[in-house]
Amino acid sequence: MERIAIGFLGCGNIGSAVYRLLEERGSEIEINEGVAFEVKKILVRDVRRSRGLNVPEGVFTDDPQEVVNDPDISIILEFMGGEQPAADYVIRALRGGKTVVTANKMALSLHWKEMLSAARSGGAGLYFEASVCGAVPVIRAMSSSLQANRISSVMGIINGTTNYILSRMSREGAPYDAVLADAQRLGLAEPDPTADVEGYDAAYKLSILAMLAFHRYVSVGSIYREGITEVTPLDVQCGQELGLTLKLLAVAKESDGKIQLRVHPTFVPDDHPLASVSDAFNAVYIDGHACGETMFYGRGAGPMPTASALVSDLICAGKAKRHELPAVEDEDCPLAKDWSCEYFVRMRAVDEPGVLALIAGEFARYGISISSMIQKGERDESGYVQLIFLTHKAREHAVRQALKGMDSATIAGVSMIRVEGR
Ligand SMILES: NC(=O)c1ccc[n+]([C@@H]2O[C@H](COP(=O)([O-])OP(=O)(O)OC[C@H]3O[C@@H](n4cnc5c(N)ncnc54)[C@H](OP(=O)(O)O)[C@@H]3O)[C@@H](O)[C@H]2O)c1
Repeated sequence: MERIAIGFLGCGNIGSAVYRLLEERGSEIEINEGVAFEVKKILVRDVRRSRGLNVPEGVFTDDPQEVVNDPDISIILEFMGGEQPAADYVIRALRGGKTVVTANKMALSLHWKEMLSAARSGGAGLYFEASVCGAVPVIRAMSSSLQANRISSVMGIINGTTNYILSRMSREGAPYDAVLADAQRLGLAEPDPTADVEGYDAAYKLSILAMLAFHRYVSVGSIYREGITEVTPLDVQCGQELGLTLKLLAVAKESDGKIQLRVHPTFVPDDHPLASVSDAFNAVYIDGHACGETMFYGRGAGPMPTASALVSDLICAGKAKRHELPAVEDEDCPLAKDWSCEYFVRMRAVDEPGVLALIAGEFARYGISISSMIQKGERDESGYVQLIFLTHKAREHAVRQALKGMDSATIAGVSMIRVEGR
């Protein structure tokens, strides 16, 4: 069988795993799928570095032209990471008619329109299953299995690092900093964890999911984003006492023709399927008018799970007679500026007669209805008590205004966490 010449951009954690998986499964793929591949060139920074791979002499290069411009190479797999020069190489390859398979959500999200336009003009394919949730086949499901649906919401746990941190905080009552340090020691968080813990990584992935769900362009900058760095063990524990589990949730929801896009810490009821997604696992929960509620679950990162998605895309690209590009218009998604959900509000309040009435009055002034209120523990040495409120569905803007209007002489230490999934 004729082998399709392919090129790699990068050969770190993911690229090495792809190389190994192709070596291990190449013959079965040839028999089962009827396609065979030959890795012709691999771009790296340091060609002398030992990578423990069985790569023939002359395959590694530090010259991107040798991959991007090689006329024999028809499919390029990109796992260099970062925005540039990865995006530039991908766009050049696509324009030149080479199909690209990428794991790079950042470059894809930030350069979506240019990549799609380059693919159209080059008549090339663009495959990106591995860019969202590693091995979990949610991209293909959204583009090839759920097209009949009008999707009303997508909610995902799409960052393994933050899910690991929040799962351990929930299980052990441990503080954020201590669990983050542990995750870094175990290689589950980067030395600079900003992209994960501040929700940037989840926002890149959400932009891709939202475009597939709503068929319009979503810029990552239009997504409301809040990370997990301010989450306290007390919030996690209070939520648990109310039957709620804390997750960093990426939410894209349609209501009244507008789309809400947000990434933030979110409580979900303990009996919601997303509550049981723990540690480094990922899940995406999709509500379609015909399919109903559907959840995709699995390993969202790691070399082999990610390689599984990349090799699957490679096989699809190699077998395709015609490449289907995502059904997403260049026009911007109509964005909702405000949204409604339930809220968990915890605050320290001066333990004096009338204070509760003032707080309740401020909520009422903005039309916020309280579904439950508990006082946690006894009055502290400064004369404050911890109060926890759960609201019925309320507008985000109204909750913020109500909290802003409360007298700072009587309340302190406010945390506000959205509740989804009821
Ligand atoms: N790690 C995961 O679990 C995971 C999961 C899903 C998606 N991804 C995505 O996969 C991509 C790669 O991740 P990774 O963990 O494999 O990264 P990595 O280990 O840092 O590997 C990056 C590779 O790209 C090469 N490279 C980087 N910049 C280059 C440049 N300017 N010129 C030439 N070569 C360059 C590096 O060469 P040297 O080896 O010579 O330095 C290295 O081989 C990222 O987009 C990431 O978001 C990762």
